[in-house]
Amino acid sequence: LFGREKKVASLQFTPIQPTMKDDVVLPNGFTYDVIAAYGDVINKKGETFGFNNDFTMYLPINGSNRHGLLWVNHEYSSDVFVTGPKQNGKYTKKQIEKLLEVQGGSVIEIERDNNGVWKMNTDSDYARRITGLTPFELRGPAAGTEAVNGAKTAQGTFANCSGGMTMWDTVLSCEENYESTAADAGLDDTHYGWVVEIDPFDPSFTLRKHTALGRFNHENAAVGTTKDGRLVVYMGDDKKDAGVYKYISKNKYVESRGKGNSQLLEDGTLYVADMSKGRWLALTIDAVREAADGNEELLEKFQTQADVLVNTHEAAMLIGGTPTDRPEDVEISPFDRSIFIAHTNNDLHGNIHGHITRFIEKNDDLGSMEFDFEIFAAGGSQSGFSAPDNLSFDSDSNLWTVTDISSGSQNKHVFEPFGNNGMFVIPTMGDHAGEAYQFASAPVASEMTGPWFTPDETTLFLAVQHPGETTEDANNPTSMWPHRSGDNMPRPAVIGIRGFKY
Ligand code: FEO
Ligand code: CA
Ligand code: CA
Ligand code: CA
Repeated sequence: LFGREKKVASLQFTPIQPTMKDDVVLPNGFTYDVIAAYGDVINKKGETFGFNNDFTMYLPINGSNRHGLLWVNHEYSSDVFVTGPKQNGKYTKKQIEKLLEVQGGSVIEIERDNNGVWKMNTDSDYARRITGLTPFELRGPAAGTEAVNGAKTAQGTFANCSGGMTMWDTVLSCEENYESTAADAGLDDTHYGWVVEIDPFDPSFTLRKHTALGRFNHENAAVGTTKDGRLVVYMGDDKKDAGVYKYISKNKYVESRGKGNSQLLEDGTLYVADMSKGRWLALTIDAVREAADGNEELLEKFQTQADVLVNTHEAAMLIGGTPTDRPEDVEISPFDRSIFIAHTNNDLHGNIHGHITRFIEKNDDLGSMEFDFEIFAAGGSQSGFSAPDNLSFDSDSNLWTVTDISSGSQNKHVFEPFGNNGMFVIPTMGDHAGEAYQFASAPVASEMTGPWFTPDETTLFLAVQHPGETTEDANNPTSMWPHRSGDNMPRPAVIGIRGFKY
């Protein structure tokens, strides 16, 4: 049945078939523009677009769907294409600088020209880079404590995977697999693994790391409110056997406070999901010490709330949080307030293709302490997708899902039916709920990340990450996407997909 043709009346496209083509393949009637690629100059200062773009977020200028700022995460570097290999097991000072410079994020200004094509404006006053060298402040309960070795500030952000948008138009960018860069650069790793906040429009907004949201391999941050008006942030910890989290602020969101609402991310409670009981468990120092049950080593490690926030995963598992199959992106359905979690896969338990889990909070209240859950859609050759990762809703209640079968495993026969990684549209309501329809196929040895629509849904932004990742010899790359004339290597790039009618 794999690859059967499906026609969906409510979708605006005829699904494509899996392919191994070294291109972004789209249904008939759709095109894409390469907006910014690794190494492109983004502003008058000559700063350049970072490597391995991930999360994207569009911020309209004057409400426009054709002119705005695009925030883009840069997740990691490459020995083959960026720094060159280590020498005697270590990067040189210059390589470390490069390693930090290509990660973090970019603010770029983009606009559609007279032909409707998306272009980057390199004369922009807004465009800037935030990197592994840019100063940040630590905020919240762990800032300045012994748990972070007294630090109130941190050098830079890196390993920026997915993220989220606040209701006050700032970006939450998530530090995911921070360990290797911190080690390679000789930086204190308690300063990384946080959710960081940035205002793309305002360089005077203090760049901050929110310790109240815990320190782990942060995938994303999905923001909503409880029925009584407090802020909620759902988060995945992208590791095998790791928990699903939510944070609830102490105080309520007040629209008129604007960016002052950022303080809501500094005072609140972090919870981990116990799926066996359908309960959210509060990560308090008291709960953790009680669960330590007299174990000297644990009681030594967990003495303050800051210790809990810095060692979140260990604390969460100790109090009964459920280990899950690599929780990646989380989205709150704007239609019924159920929570969609991409559990990408976990070979430790034979979950090769992953699934999308759906939490239903009691009374549909994001502030509830109880929930039910179901497997909403399972990966595999029947459903047509494997390894769901980033998620994004459209206004027809479809869940746009990109996949991340790792490049190293794509030669195994269980992954053969899927071809290159892709993008799938999965209705969450109606007769076709849970069925996946392929919308896009990614270039060779890449994944598509960071789906984000313009408010009118006429453009879908996507970040094409790590094309040609399987390359061993830079002179003989496995992909040359985006195939621009003059390029001699593949380049991660952000694209705008057009062709949507509304
Ligand atoms: Fe960076 Fe979990 O993907
Ligand atoms: Ca991801
Ligand atoms: Ca998302
Ligand atoms: Ca992934």
